[in-house]
Amino acid sequence: MANGLDDVVAAETVLSDVDGLGGRLTIRGHSLPELAGRWRYPQVVRLLLDGFFDDLPGDAELAQAIGRSRVEVFERLQPMLPALVPLDVYSGMRAGVALLPDGDTLADALLMIAAPAVLTPALLRGERGSPAIAPNPQADHAADMLRMLSGTDASPALVTALDTYLVTVCDHGLNASTFATRVVASTQAGLTSAILAGLGALKGPLHGGAPGPVIEMLDAIEAGGDAAGWLRAEIARGERIMGFGHRIYRVRDPRADVLKAVVRQLGAEGATGRRLAFAETVEQTALEVLRQAKPSRSIQTNVEFYTALLLEAAGFPAEAFSNVFAAGRVAGWVAHAREQQTTGRLIRPQSRYVGPVPDLVA
Ligand code: CMC
Repeated sequence: MANGLDDVVAAETVLSDVDGLGGRLTIRGHSLPELAGRWRYPQVVRLLLDGFFDDLPGDAELAQAIGRSRVEVFERLQPMLPALVPLDVYSGMRAGVALLPDGDTLADALLMIAAPAVLTPALLRGERGSPAIAPNPQADHAADMLRMLSGTDASPALVTALDTYLVTVCDHGLNASTFATRVVASTQAGLTSAILAGLGALKGPLHGGAPGPVIEMLDAIEAGGDAAGWLRAEIARGERIMGFGHRIYRVRDPRADVLKAVVRQLGAEGATGRRLAFAETVEQTALEVLRQAKPSRSIQTNVEFYTALLLEAAGFPAEAFSNVFAAGRVAGWVAHAREQQTTGRLIRPQSRYVGPVPDLVA
């Protein structure tokens, strides 16, 4: 279908491949299970950026450089926080990113990669009237993000959970936000302009804005007590069930299982365990309701369903889930922007005009 560019191959990439029938995600030659929970986020940043910057250092040095970039983002943007905090937390992050230099060096790239991780906790604390906490350049990226949010060191399990999440969502083929990023990069605009395009596209509920509504759905179903009735009523109203369906996957999104395992590790008992058990029953009901409502389409669980549970367990409010998604996906955006720039080719497709034609003058 022309309007959604379904099945159109619009770029060649060495960065990632989504196998929608096999349910597999490959990131630069590595399967998702090889990376998630085994590589730290800065290592995956290096994997994605390799070959796109002449001065890219090794793993340890890059992790330190990302730490220094967190500090630089904080120092540049802390004076602006009073203007950003009154915005919703996603818009505040996007506005903050827009204030960073629009270059295309490695230093510019690392500011982009650091920015969502620094701005999100600062803006959330600002909403509560608490002062922002400065980054610790020596700390692990995910650990620092959690510390800047809560003010205390997070448990190793929680750090691993957030780190695994960031790795799991770091790149995913030519999704809407990555395509938007590449379009802007193809004009030879700077990385900040390209990342802002990605941030704009990620915000929508059909893409990165889905996990917040997943929490609303779980809460509404829990309050009402009738999962199937609630889900059927939503579909009857023409609404989509958040956390289900995908343009490419016809089978279960492999990222969903990775994140579900992480949530399980976070707590089989207690609030997280109860939430997980409830979500699993809602998931089964939703899959059945969707099977009945859309028999011709294989609608399966996508990454956002368990993203919601993981980020909730990590202490992020639902309003900031898309921010945390951006904190992971930004590495893929930067790599795709650079890959597109190296082609030297402007992305400029055509449209087919179906509007009225002007009257012919006699
Ligand atoms: N709930 C209800 N109906 C659905 C859903 C859903 N979640 N997903 C697809 N459908 C319906 C859709 O309305 C269409 O019905 P009809 O033919 O009667 O108009 C049919 O299934 C075919 O849809 P499709 O072509 O498979 O799906 P798509 O490519 O148009 O949409 C999607 C993909 C992700 C936008 C859609 O599945 C959706 O809106 N899901 C809910 C939002 C969501 O979870 N988004 C996160 C996506 S994964 C994260 C990411 O990679 O960004």
